[in-house]
Amino acid sequence: MAVERTLVLCKPDAVRRGLSGEIVARFERRGFVLKGARLLKVSKGLAQQHYEEHKGKPFFGELVAFITSGPVLALAIEGESAISVVRTMMGATNPANSAPGTIRGDLALEMSENVIHGSDSKASAKRELALFFPDGLV
Ligand code: RTP
Ligand code: MG
Repeated sequence: MAVERTLVLCKPDAVRRGLSGEIVARFERRGFVLKGARLLKVSKGLAQQHYEEHKGKPFFGELVAFITSGPVLALAIEGESAISVVRTMMGATNPANSAPGTIRGDLALEMSENVIHGSDSKASAKRELALFFPDGLV
């Protein structure tokens, strides 16, 4: 058990649909603290770096096209076991299999537009926070 920081992205579909506020509120109500928030249009270069682990997979091009299709809200979230608890709150990657009560289970239906990203390990969180908050966090 340890206090951790993790990166959340409210993806372009979430921002477009006006769901960013609800997503932020869920994390705040759970007890997490916002250490950074940034609304930005992701460049192709940043998208390719962010999704480095998926390079070469058949859906890589779609992934990059989607994440660069409109503004995202990047959040640095801090709290006890933040990396795994945030992933649990997000729900399964494919919203068709996400449990009700999870963010994807309540707000999404399609794999390609699944409203949220969360870092999946300590190493990913460190790498991704540095990509989206290059000037550091409070
Ligand atoms: P994320 O990175 O967005 O937090 O999602 P995740 O860890 O639950 O899923 P990951 O395996 O990292 O996949 C990243 C995103 O790629 C899309 N995806 N499509 N067509 C496919 O088989 C496929 N697999 C993954 C999803 O939009 C997923 O969020
Ligand atoms: Mg992932």
